[in-house]
Amino acid sequence: MKPIHLDTLRLFLHVLAATVWVGGQITLAALVPALRAAGSDVPKAAAKAFNRVAWPAFAVLVVTGAWNVVAEGDKGPAYQRTLMLKYTLVLASGFTAYVHARATSRRTMAVFGALTGLTALATLFVGILLAGD
Ligand code: HEM
Repeated sequence: MKPIHLDTLRLFLHVLAATVWVGGQITLAALVPALRAAGSDVPKAAAKAFNRVAWPAFAVLVVTGAWNVVAEGDKGPAYQRTLMLKYTLVLASGFTAYVHARATSRRTMAVFGALTGLTALATLFVGILLAGD
């Protein structure tokens, strides 16, 4: 059995929070047709319940992400540029999720729902790129 380090805990918490933030959005989107069929208020109630775990997970991502940056140190210009891209995507992911959750028109909800899904997936992808170094 390989030893467990503090780095193991750091990455475990970061990836756990990413599964909630990204995987939760995909799962909720997949459940929407069934939720709509159960009642017109049900999707909104489910989204509200999801937000109660999604935002704490986002906060854990930011805290453990900063921990990752400190622990991994400077790995050169390509790594730094990838990290800058990741910061931009994290901001976009949080902003679009916030607007999506507060949207009052169907159009805004649909556009920002798609954007939040895409930016969450892109952040996950760039996270994997960083971890490969
Ligand atoms: C939506 C938010 C985020 C998602 C979905 C996400 C996802 C991920 C994933 C899946 C990994 C790969 C972990 C592994 O398998 O080793 C990773 C690594 C990393 N993340 Fe994030 N992350 C997010 C936010 C952040 C933030 C806010 C920061 C910085 C403040 C950050 C910095 C890093 C760094 C530096 C690594 C590389 C860690 C290593 O090489 O050990 N992440 N991220």
